[in-house]
Amino acid sequence: MLEGILQIKHSNVLGDGQIDRVAEFLVRAGIAISSIYLDDVAHAVEVGRAYINQVTRRQPYQCGFFAAFFGDYPVGFVSYLIVPVQVRHTLGYEAALGGDLHVALEHRREGIGTRLIAGVEDYFRQLGIHRYVFLVAPGESAKLFWRNILSSRPCSATWTAPLMNL
Ligand SMILES: CC(C)(COP(=O)(O)OP(=O)(O)OC[C@H]1O[C@@H](n2cnc3c(N)ncnc32)[C@H](O)[C@@H]1OP(=O)(O)O)[C@@H](O)C(=O)NCCC(=O)NCCS
Repeated sequence: MLEGILQIKHSNVLGDGQIDRVAEFLVRAGIAISSIYLDDVAHAVEVGRAYINQVTRRQPYQCGFFAAFFGDYPVGFVSYLIVPVQVRHTLGYEAALGGDLHVALEHRREGIGTRLIAGVEDYFRQLGIHRYVFLVAPGESAKLFWRNILSSRPCSATWTAPLMNL
């Protein structure tokens, strides 16, 4: 049982220890893939860190991630990228969410995924971003989750090209 209030944190504010715990979370979640994880934490941290480096250094994009924490323990994750101003018009959107949105199995249906998306959207709004694209993973839970988010706002999303207007 994890104690403490849920906090949604941007990658920029995380210290080294917190990044290591997010890295391990990503391997446990199967987002960063390791064939030899088992309980080798040092290896998981290395593999998870490599994933984090990938999603936070996608030139020419400005990238990062948000993680949900109970105290020191990560329970959710999603990465994002911001499209350079020069190509926004051509692409038709200003930012994108990674398909790596994930909430720990034992903490689903507690509103954590919704809080993560709200955190990303607040951040986007602060940057003057009003339209982002997102991936919907295969499976019913992802679809039902996004349907619930979409039901709370006017937007032009479809399942083949989901675009969110903020
Ligand atoms: C999809 C996912 C991120 C949702 O995270 P979550 O924290 O459980 O979502 P929330 O608690 O914020 O759910 C909000 C609402 O979405 C809907 N919803 C989410 N998961 C659902 C499910 N499995 N079945 C039915 N409705 C669901 C519900 O309306 C829910 O509200 P309610 O619990 O009050 O009924 C999580 O299930 C997950 O990590 N799944 C595996 C990876 C994945 O599919 N990622 C999505 C990539 S696009």
